[in-house]
Amino acid sequence: MTSTSFDFAPLLPAGPPPAAVRWKGRAKYDFTGGNNDPDSLPLDGLIAAAEAVMRREGRTLATYGLNSGPQGYRALREFLVAKLKADAGIGCTADDILITSGSLQALDLVNGTLLARGDTVIIEEDCYQGSINRLIRLGVTPVGIPLDRDGMRVDALAAALDDLKRKGVRPKYIYTIPTVQNPTGTILPVERRREMLRLSAAHGVPIFEDDCYCDLIWSGQRPPAIYAMSERGGVIHIGSFSKSIAPALRIGYIVAPWDVMSRMLALKLYQPALAAGVVINPGPEWSVNKAHARSRMRLCFASLSHEEIHQGVAALADVCRKEFGVPR
Ligand SMILES: Cc1ncc(COP(=O)(O)O)c(C=O)c1O
Repeated sequence: MTSTSFDFAPLLPAGPPPAAVRWKGRAKYDFTGGNNDPDSLPLDGLIAAAEAVMRREGRTLATYGLNSGPQGYRALREFLVAKLKADAGIGCTADDILITSGSLQALDLVNGTLLARGDTVIIEEDCYQGSINRLIRLGVTPVGIPLDRDGMRVDALAAALDDLKRKGVRPKYIYTIPTVQNPTGTILPVERRREMLRLSAAHGVPIFEDDCYCDLIWSGQRPPAIYAMSERGGVIHIGSFSKSIAPALRIGYIVAPWDVMSRMLALKLYQPALAAGVVINPGPEWSVNKAHARSRMRLCFASLSHEEIHQGVAALADVCRKEFGVPR
């Protein structure tokens, strides 16, 4: 079939972005895109690390989530616990972290969890276009707060929050790139971070902290993350290795309280654990005919040994016998 034989145009929903043009290679003078300096890429270290990890635990590639569960590779999460403590002052455990495909997926998961068409959010007036166009596509209204040399102006933030309150609007979050802001490069000082937290608590609006540039500070000294300064929770923190190592690796992460994290996991790949250490896919999750699927389940068996299959099915049968009286 040729690409012109079927007309997709009438099927497209209203208001999609204009069609992309085919890529013909990079422009000679390309001032777009957050690409890194190829010569600064720690290539030898990356090759050595990839080989060491593959040799140590490459077999986990056979399992979704690398045998570490739905929050991603546990060793990386543990590395992040130490890094976030040392660099950003964040005290968290590996269970508070979700590994994502770049911080862009982190953005999508936070938005998918919190936002609905018609909502309002607060963002910096000049801001990463990827964040802006996601909000527009979701039908969410971004209220822009002006920046100065020290990042988001918290006096303007206070005024905007008061104004929205008068109109009966409670924004879903205050989105900020506080450390090396994109596109202005500003760094929000500690006092402004503190004031933002005070306003967030006073108005009951959480802070969504996008810290993907935090490793690019020239002096190496960064203010503590807003997440670290918060005494009451209410902050979701995302980060990335795209800017400090390589964007093509697509490795980012989210640090969030469990009540939000658990909702994001439900959006991502999550299986409820059954009694007796057996997990299965319940039939109704795999069918649009819920009544028909009620008494069905999906069992995947390629990664289990014969012995595990025998023991697991016996344990499952036991649970079914106790719960439903079958098999007899
Ligand atoms: C502020 C901000 N957040 C998130 C991203 C997404 O980056 P990545 O998905 O590569 O981590 C970018 C990319 O430029 C960005 O500028």
